[in-house]
Amino acid sequence: MSIDLTEETITGAVQQTFDNTSDVRAKELFATLVRYLHDFAREVRLTDEEWFTAMDFLVRVGQKSSPTRQEFILLSDVLGLSVLVDLINHHRGPFATESTLLGPFFIENRPKVPNGADISGGVAGIPLFVTGRVVDPEGNPVAGVHVDTWHSDGDGYYDVQMPEKLHDQPAMRALLTTAADGRFRYRSIAPKYYPVPTDGPVGEIMRVSGRSPIRPEHIHFRLQAPGYDPLITMLFRGDDSHLTTDPVFGAKRSLVVDFVRHEPGVAPDGTVVDVPFQTVDWTFTLVPRSDSRNG
Ligand code: BEZ
Ligand code: FE
Repeated sequence: MSIDLTEETITGAVQQTFDNTSDVRAKELFATLVRYLHDFAREVRLTDEEWFTAMDFLVRVGQKSSPTRQEFILLSDVLGLSVLVDLINHHRGPFATESTLLGPFFIENRPKVPNGADISGGVAGIPLFVTGRVVDPEGNPVAGVHVDTWHSDGDGYYDVQMPEKLHDQPAMRALLTTAADGRFRYRSIAPKYYPVPTDGPVGEIMRVSGRSPIRPEHIHFRLQAPGYDPLITMLFRGDDSHLTTDPVFGAKRSLVVDFVRHEPGVAPDGTVVDVPFQTVDWTFTLVPRSDSRNG
């Protein structure tokens, strides 16, 4: 390695140290990362103090992270990197349901329930009846799809954010399976918009930039079926004013639905509900795995 490096020669020198990396892709990633990182520092004329502030920030992001708090992923989310990576890798073309980010509130510990089940876990709220249909790009029903769903309560809290109140029991989340006609359905409670966690270093970015931390109201879905591309997505309430300021850039026009409000009466599952309730109905389109016809 050469010595006496200058502002101009240091980038090539650092890139060269990766020349013997056996993994060709890793070599490309490191060399390109070094190029952009150095160009960034040169372009903004990064000061000592700014470099130290950045290092301290990253240390604190690490210190805030735990198995149940992914501050690094939240940083990626608010910088738009999570959605950019999703766009790069999961653009399935005009016929498929669009995907969006997974978020931090999916957990493996969720009940497997039959269609029609009440998944609220006993949490009080406005009754919500969700009906869905899963089809392929030709419109044929896809049976046997594993449908994960999870959402917040009417105050904007997920079950994992209130373990004491719920005695560590899962609520407002479940794994369902589509029937022969591609349909699934469940009962739950209406979710609410909520802030991304702002009590860590990422919250400082939101405050210093005057950005809203509020995610628009949504329900999460993850659909998996043999032979089809897995789909991670959300459905958003159409009349939520936070749609255009989603702090993690996950909202999409094609995923906006009507959360239809109903007066007390007969619900879609035939039961009589004596309070106002809401319904959501949506058709999801999965594309066959590695099918390039649509995109
Ligand atoms: C969510 O929708 O659950 C979520 C996504 C990104 C950051 C925080 C929450
Ligand atoms: Fe969410």
